[in-house]
Amino acid sequence: MSSWRVTRVFLGSAISVLEARRFVTAFLPTWPDLDDAVLIVSELATNAVRHTNSGRPGGRFIVSLEVIGSTLGLAVQDEGGPRSPRLLPLSPTEMGGRGLALVSGLSVKWGVAGDENGRTVWAVLEATPLAMARS
Ligand SMILES: Nc1ncnc2c1ncn2[C@@H]1O[C@H](COP(=O)(O)OP(=O)(O)OP(=O)(O)O)[C@@H](O)[C@H]1O
Ligand SMILES: [Mg+2]
Repeated sequence: MSSWRVTRVFLGSAISVLEARRFVTAFLPTWPDLDDAVLIVSELATNAVRHTNSGRPGGRFIVSLEVIGSTLGLAVQDEGGPRSPRLLPLSPTEMGGRGLALVSGLSVKWGVAGDENGRTVWAVLEATPLAMARS
């Protein structure tokens, strides 16, 4: 069973979200649900930049990928702040509030650890045996 973990630090700017997407693609080229993994990291990284101290000048966020067999753990660690991640009710009229709903819908489970000094938002994906065989 293959098992590994990789972590990278990014500057807390919008352009880093693109770099974080490339980071996922580079380390998971054969992951069967790569698009889902990229989308989740993209949403979590965007949230870190937009809603936390990571988006302040000199701020940073950290992306971690962890594969254990057919399980993929994705996590984005931010520099905290007064707000907390929360699943907003989906609204046909509101433009925002979809990121964590997407993360919740695409992952087997997700959650938040930490406090105003720094939080980690994580999500777990499970590759189906059929998809693994095709990859
Ligand atoms: N890492 C985080 N730290 C603190 N608050 C967060 C974090 N991520 C999200 N939030 C809070 O949770 C809310 C919901 O996040 P979500 O990603 O679902 O929506 P959004 O970022 O407001 O809009 P969208 O992702 O659709 O552009 C945010 O508006 C923000 O208040
Ligand atoms: Mg968001």
